[in-house]
Order: sequence, then structure tokens, then C-alpha cells
Amino acid sequence: MTQRRPCVGGNWKMNTDRESAVALARAVANAAQEHKLEQHADVFICPPFVYLDAVRLELEADAPEGPTLGAQDVSEQPNGAFTGEISSAMLQDLDVEMVLTGHSERRHVIGETDDVVNAKTRSALDAGLMCCLCVGETLQQREAGDTDRVNETQVRAGLAGVGAHHLDSLVIAYEPVWAIGTGRTATPDDAQAAHAHIRALLADLYSPDLASGLRILYGGSVKPGNAAELFAQPDIDGGLIGGASLDAEGFIAICQAAAQTCHHA
Ligand code: PGA
Repeated sequence: MTQRRPCVGGNWKMNTDRESAVALARAVANAAQEHKLEQHADVFICPPFVYLDAVRLELEADAPEGPTLGAQDVSEQPNGAFTGEISSAMLQDLDVEMVLTGHSERRHVIGETDDVVNAKTRSALDAGLMCCLCVGETLQQREAGDTDRVNETQVRAGLAGVGAHHLDSLVIAYEPVWAIGTGRTATPDDAQAAHAHIRALLADLYSPDLASGLRILYGGSVKPGNAAELFAQPDIDGGLIGGASLDAEGFIAICQAAAQTCHHA
């Protein structure tokens, strides 16, 4: 069985300005270095598109070992007449290594379908980017007892046509929509149950061995105070952090919790 390396991502969403984005990246990089986080965990940050280059320059100058640069979205198209879109190649041009696909705000606010999420996931992986595919149920779906069915549909659809050779570059994030930005967190048991279900599905889709090597992150109101108990669950391999990633100290405390707590194989 493969040992899974803890992984934590910071999703800054539509927050910061140029100056505060650069300062936040620097603070995260400095604290990561101080705590030698790169020895124990993968850390990535996803600033808004327009600040990626400024953040990249800051990290390159100051923290070559610092967090990996991620983007919050990516176009499924390689280039052409797609006003406002950003391609994988453009992101790679800025040294972006990771992209989020299927974030609930893109599914439920922007209206991305499973097909679009799948096309983006495949195109990012084909281009050589790492991809964090986000899935999760709404409150209504949870209350209707549909949590596993929704996650299963989103994972199956999101990974349609994704070959086993891409799994090294894939991370899944389970983010119950009702827990995102609400201060409500899934209980560790509920989160673990959803993660275990997703891992069993991945074992079915690929193989038990490949599934046991895949990182599944939890997202939804993770804070320094609740991170450790979530990350201690056997199938939770880190987190995707929204609000709490805007504070460098808190974000690094969450990364440390992952480094210390997730040692799952
Ligand atoms: P939150 O967001 O931590 O603010 O709940 C998580 C996410 O949307 O990835």
C-alpha cells in the first residue's frame, strides 16, 4: 500500500488585491519554510488569476521551496475565441502546477455541469497540470439521504475518460456545499464516511491499489481549531481551505495539523 502524503490547498477565491496577495503568499511561504512543511506535506495556494504572476515572482525570489502555485479554474479549450477564458498552457506559462475543477461555487453559482467539469479535468491533466477535482452534496441532497449518490455521480462524471496514468496528478476534494463558507463543518465521522465511500468508488473505477494512493481532501469551514480531528480520520488526507487560507498563520496551523495528523496508508 502507498503512503499518502498530506496535502493542503488554500483557495483564495475572489479575495485580496495585488499588494495583499503578494504579502499573503510571502507570509505563507515564510511560515512554511520556518516549519519545514515541505518535508511533510504538499501545500498549494490558488490566488485569483490576475495575481498569479505577481505571486509567482514573489515566491520565485523568496521561497523557491515554497507552496505550489494553483489556479481556481481553467478552460477546457486549448486556445481560440473564448472570451474571458484562461487555458492550461497560459497557466503553465506562469508556472502554475495545480488547478481546481468542479468547485461548488462554479457548479452552483456559475452553473458548470458535470460534463464541463469533466472536460476541464481531462484537459488540465492532458496538459500536464495537477488537478484537484471538487465534489460534494448540497444541504437538500444530504437531508434527502443522497450524499453518497451525489458524490458518486460527480466523481464518475468528473473522471470519465481519465486514465489510470493520470492518477498521480489527481487529488479529490470532498466539500459538502452546506459547509463551505458557512462555519458549519461536517462532523469527522460524516466526513470520513463520505471519503470512504469515494475511495471505494475509486477502487471500483481503477483498482484498490490506485485508490489507496489517491489523496482525498476535506473542504468546508476547516479552521485551525477543527483541522486535526478531521485530518485524523483514516481517509482524510488534508484539506482545501477557503476563508481560513486568507490568514497566513491560521493556514499554516492547518497545514501543520495535516503534516502531523494525516499519516494514512
Ligand atoms: P471555506 O471554503 O473553507 O471558506 O468553507 C472551502 C472551499 O470553498 O474550498
